[in-house]
Amino acid sequence: MSLSAKNDRIAWLKGPSAECSAIPTKQQRPWRLVLLGAPGVGKGTQAALLSERLQACHLSTGDVFRAAGKRHDCDQSPAMKAALEYMRRGELVPDSTVWEMVRERSQCLLDCAGFILDGFPRTLTQAESLRELMENEQLSLSAVVNYELPVDEIIQRLSGRRTCEKCKAVFHVTERPSKDDGICDHCGGGLFQREDDRAEAIAVRLDAYERSTAPLIQFYENLGLLVPIVAKGSPDEILARTMDRLPNEQRDERRIS
Ligand code: AP5
Repeated sequence: MSLSAKNDRIAWLKGPSAECSAIPTKQQRPWRLVLLGAPGVGKGTQAALLSERLQACHLSTGDVFRAAGKRHDCDQSPAMKAALEYMRRGELVPDSTVWEMVRERSQCLLDCAGFILDGFPRTLTQAESLRELMENEQLSLSAVVNYELPVDEIIQRLSGRRTCEKCKAVFHVTERPSKDDGICDHCGGGLFQREDDRAEAIAVRLDAYERSTAPLIQFYENLGLLVPIVAKGSPDEILARTMDRLPNEQRDERRIS
C-alpha cells in the first residue's frame, strides 16, 4: 500500500461520512504528535515529511477549513461560513466551532496509525479538550514539537508560499519552487497563494499566535512533552533534527523494526 494512498486524509478533510481510500495499518506504538509554532514556521511542511517517515496521518485543522471553503455555499453550515470569515481575516476560529469539527472526526485521532496534529490545538481550551478526549480513551501524546524561527524569516516563508489546489502540497517561490512554474510537482494541480498570506492577514495571525497559542508552550512543557526545535535550514535538515529529538524509546523501536 503506498503511503499517499494510506494518508489520503479524506475522512479528516471531508468528515466522517467519507472514507479514506485505504485504511492505515495499525501500529503497535503509534506516534501521536502535536506540532506547535507560529504561522509559516513550516509545520505543514514538517507534518508531511513526518507523516511519511512515521507512517502517521497528517491532520491539519486549517486544511479542513480550506476544504470546506471550496464547497458550494449551500453545503456550508452557518458556523462554517463564519469560520471561513475569521480565517480570511487571519483571526482564530472560535474554540466551539473548531472543537465541534475535531470531535466529529475523532475517529481519525483514535483509530488510525497515529497522527501528526498540525494547527490544533491552538488555545488552552482546545488543548484541554484534546487532553480530555485522549484520557477518556486512555491514550497519550508521544511529544509536542515546538518549531522556532525569527519573525522576519516567518514573514518571508509566508509571503512566498504557494499551495496545490488539488493535493495541498506546499511550495515556496524561491526556497522550494515547483519544477514547472505554477504547477504542482506531485499531481499537476495549479498552485495558488492563500488568501490569509496577504500582509494584513499575516500581521493578525502572528498577533493571534502570540496571544492564544504561545501559552501552549508552557502548558506542554509542564506536562513534560515539549520538544523545542530550531526551524532554520532545509526541510530535510529540520526533519532530521526533529527525528533525533523525539522520545528515544519509541524512535529506536521504529529504527530496529
Ligand atoms: P493553518 O492552516 O493551520 O495555518 P498556520 O498555522 O497559520 O500555519 P501555516 O499553514 O500558515 O504555516 P505552516 O507553519 O504550516 O508553514 P508551511 O509548512 O506551510 O490555519 C489557517 C487558519 O485557520 C488560522 O489562521 C485560523 O483562522 C484557522 N484555524 C486553523 N486551525 C485552527 C484552530 N485550531 N483554532 C482556531 N483557528 C484555526 O511553510 C510556509 C512556507 O515556508 C511554505 O512556502 C514552505 O514551502 C516554506 N518552508 C517550509 N519549510 C521551509 C524551510 N525549512 N526553509 C525554507 N522554506 C520553508
